[in-house]
Amino acid sequence: MDTALLESTANFLVGPGRGILAADESNGTMTKRLEAVGVESSSETRREYRANLFAMPTMAKAISGVILYDETIRQNAVDGTSIPDYLHARDIMPGIKVDTGAKPLACNDGETVTEGLDGLRDRCMEYFQMGARFAKWRAVIRIDDGMPSDACISTNAHALARYAAICQEQGLVPIIEPEVLMEGNHDAQRCFDITATVLDATWEACAVQGVHLPGALLKPNMILPGKAHAVRSDVDTCARMTIDLLHNHVPHEIPGVVFLSGGQTEVEATAHLNAMNNMGPHPFQLSYSYGRALQSSTLKTWAKNRDNVGEAHEVFAHRCEMAHLARSGSWSTDLEV
Ligand code: 13P
Repeated sequence: MDTALLESTANFLVGPGRGILAADESNGTMTKRLEAVGVESSSETRREYRANLFAMPTMAKAISGVILYDETIRQNAVDGTSIPDYLHARDIMPGIKVDTGAKPLACNDGETVTEGLDGLRDRCMEYFQMGARFAKWRAVIRIDDGMPSDACISTNAHALARYAAICQEQGLVPIIEPEVLMEGNHDAQRCFDITATVLDATWEACAVQGVHLPGALLKPNMILPGKAHAVRSDVDTCARMTIDLLHNHVPHEIPGVVFLSGGQTEVEATAHLNAMNNMGPHPFQLSYSYGRALQSSTLKTWAKNRDNVGEAHEVFAHRCEMAHLARSGSWSTDLEV
């Protein structure tokens, strides 16, 4: 294992003022997103949208890495070069989603285990040769009556740790993503308790597999009440609870935490990260790996006028700038027009 390469990649990804753009929606998810804005989904429309997104002139100020999907890493950028080469040339590291999705967990109705370990070593080798330097694997944990089960927590933790070890052996920094979903009517304390249990199990499994933590990143959910819960958390409460969780349930050798947005609005996800960065110091960088919270308004704008990508670039530039400011706690509501 090349620990120096892994550590330098991980530190690059959470460098000052920058974070990750998650553009690794599977074809199924991307089809839903495109159809919701009235665009037919095809390999070419998915390429057109993403190639234009990555061409936003100031993107590298806020984005250190982009997570790609298998289809996208094989496609071309606006100038005809391969997307991974194009990103490298802009000082942005290409990453790759390597799991094959959350599948029903046997004997545990309603729960899932994320698959993709079979053949993973060979796929990692190929992705590294194509230019990828980091990877993502998303485990999905649902809160409900009697959920998550011990089986769900332990199988997902085991898979995350095995994935992380294989990636590191092949020179890819693993983003370890055990996502506790926002769906449900649980309160914020239950989200805290479940997320803490899931993280503890994940680190235990990582220790068994020999994962090198200074060469890995954590992608967690923030601590929020379920979407159907009657009481909403204010920004300060979410930030304090999330910080409390991270300080006590994340090994301090991890160089960075890159949050998912998980269905929060663009402004909510920005406000929460900003508040947390104002509550430092922290033992690790607190950054983003947002999908929807960086892309939602841009996708809508792009779909309205695909011949004028300038408008979509302006909208994306604004979201990037807001996320960039939140990295140092310098964002404020009045910057949102
Ligand atoms: P969201 O920020 O839209 O939750 O997506 C992040 C991600 O990559 C989920 O795996």
